[in-house]
Amino acid sequence: MSEPVTFRAPIGTHDVLGPASAEWEGVIATFAQYAYRFGFELCVTPMFEDVGVFNRGIGEHSEVAKKEMYVFSDRGDRVYALRPEGTAPVVRAFIQHSPNVPWKAWYVTPAFRYERPQAGRYRQHHQLGVEALGTDDPAIDVEVIALASRFFGAIGLTKVRLLINSMGHDVCRSAYVELLRAHLGANVDGLCDEHRETWNENPLRVLDCKRDPCIEVTNRGPMLPEHVCDDCRAHFDAVRAGLTSIGIESTLNARLVRGFDYYTRTTFEFVADALPGAQNAIGGGGRYDKLAEQLGGKPTGGIGFGCGIERLLLAREAEDVEPGTLVKRTLDAFVIDTTGEDVATVLVDELRAAGFATDRAYDARSMKSQMKLADKSGARAAVLVGPQEHADGQITIRDLRSDDFEHAQQRVARGDVAKALTQLLTKS
Ligand code: HAM
Repeated sequence: MSEPVTFRAPIGTHDVLGPASAEWEGVIATFAQYAYRFGFELCVTPMFEDVGVFNRGIGEHSEVAKKEMYVFSDRGDRVYALRPEGTAPVVRAFIQHSPNVPWKAWYVTPAFRYERPQAGRYRQHHQLGVEALGTDDPAIDVEVIALASRFFGAIGLTKVRLLINSMGHDVCRSAYVELLRAHLGANVDGLCDEHRETWNENPLRVLDCKRDPCIEVTNRGPMLPEHVCDDCRAHFDAVRAGLTSIGIESTLNARLVRGFDYYTRTTFEFVADALPGAQNAIGGGGRYDKLAEQLGGKPTGGIGFGCGIERLLLAREAEDVEPGTLVKRTLDAFVIDTTGEDVATVLVDELRAAGFATDRAYDARSMKSQMKLADKSGARAAVLVGPQEHADGQITIRDLRSDDFEHAQQRVARGDVAKALTQLLTKS
């Protein structure tokens, strides 16, 4: 029986090892490529920030700030929070460094939320995202949404829908919230147990409630898109027309208010129909035209989105997208050396320098044992050197995918090993 494990990854977190990690690499590399194509540059910010960045940024009354943040004080009694999301830190960095606008930044980051763990919901998840600051041109909204949409396509997802809404700006939304408050106040008894208590604190949250009583009450009430001002409506119409002009379909969802307080105007979510309902949001985002001011900066419009890497991978699996297609992570060669000298050390160094993904065995194992390792490694070819070959200045190359035993193997001069390996690898 194996020893019991003393330490495990904390609840709601997970380790990522091969071969699954190759899927991670593929998704991240594809995102980096698309972000670059769309003119975004990488932005790296600390994993923790002054807790005020989040309390002011995402809103003290948001569920995440109230119940889910990992808050701690350091040895100097400063109060920090592990980042629960990527937007507020990027806007904090924007204010601190004043880059030229429009500033287009992308990121890949862990995010920490003390949630009830379940499939597709973790206490540490990982996000790929972008933020564009310094313009409120609807064209940038279209571009940010297009980047997400094209990226989902590039990683093989086909069953993805885009839901979109406008939250209006601070003035027209406040007027709407009062209308909604009045409607909820007149129908309190019809709300679900939770919102019968909390509706007044943040009426918009009731729109997001998935329980039938709240859906029924809010269905009879005022809806946001009908109450945004003319400017916000024109902005929203321009965003939707822009999306249509590049063939991106969007569905209006008047209930889409999202979980953070910073959103204004355009909000959107991408849902993967192959995933179960509760965890089918693979990405979401929107505009946050007041956030820079809330964090002490100059008025600066911004928009972005974040998508969960774990959920993207679950959606790929649920859609039966073939793994291993985004990046190649298989070995080209496995060196087998029975000379008892430094032959393998020199050979792997040479092959790696020539660009071949190469591995080898250690601990002076027998020929048979090294051959087994070569088979298990998934390498395309075994490169063998025994004492006789070494003395003759030769090397044996064996095609590990061939069943034709007689022709699977060839001897070549030591100096021709790279050429012979290239020939074998380009053979179908
Ligand atoms: P969010 O909707 O909270 O938005 O998260 C973005 C995405 O991260 C979600 O759509 C989901 O795929 C993934 N996600 C969130 N929480 C979890 C979790 N507990 N476990 C697994 N995956 C999760 C934001 O975070 C905003 N910062 C997005 C944004 C960028 N808005 C403007 N710019």
